[in-house]
Amino acid sequence: MVTYCESPRELIFGWPSGLMHCQMQADLERILFDEATILRRLDEIAAQISNDYRDRELTVIAVLNGSLVFMSDLMRRIPLPLRLDCLSVASYHGRAETTGEVIFKHVALPDVVDRHVLILDDILDSGHTLAAIREKLETAKPRSIRVCVLLQKKKERARPVDADYVGFEIEDEFVVGYGLDFMERYRNLPCIGVLRKE
Ligand code: IMP
Ligand code: MG
Repeated sequence: MVTYCESPRELIFGWPSGLMHCQMQADLERILFDEATILRRLDEIAAQISNDYRDRELTVIAVLNGSLVFMSDLMRRIPLPLRLDCLSVASYHGRAETTGEVIFKHVALPDVVDRHVLILDDILDSGHTLAAIREKLETAKPRSIRVCVLLQKKKERARPVDADYVGFEIEDEFVVGYGLDFMERYRNLPCIGVLRKE
């Protein structure tokens, strides 16, 4: 469905936002979670995190770029004093298959000594990325580390990682939207869907 709305984006670029999203949505085989469903689930996870960390100061470490949209919506639902840091790693190099090799783009690790760290990532797939990040952060002597992912694929992982907070469990399919990309595209799609094979 094409919706023509007079958003600021439309006024600036002369390009209806509904139409732009519609073109990207046409590349989806099906939609798994619409924006309202995602945000309702974030309310639940944020309530759980807020309760678990009510007496502790939280340090959120967001894994770029995939967790950006998730992080921004989630952290505004957590009414606690918290710090935010970001880590940038690459494991896919633009392909749909993981290589297992995780490259740290930023050499300097955030200062997490004695902090309660919550790692945020978009999706737990093979486990390589989060296992490597967790291992690396543990060397920086935090007081505690937990992991929160928006999506977790139902599959056997190459490296065992337990996520403490999971938005949704999905089948082992390639998904895009709401921060998740295929070759850096589709991150701005407000929903999450399975990308067409072709
Ligand atoms: P892992 O190291 O295999 O667990 O993969 C983690 C990273 O791979 C995620 O942070 C994503 O950036 C990317 N990834 C894994 N599965 C998907 C997917 O279905 N869609 C988009 N990106 C994915
Ligand atoms: Mg990622």
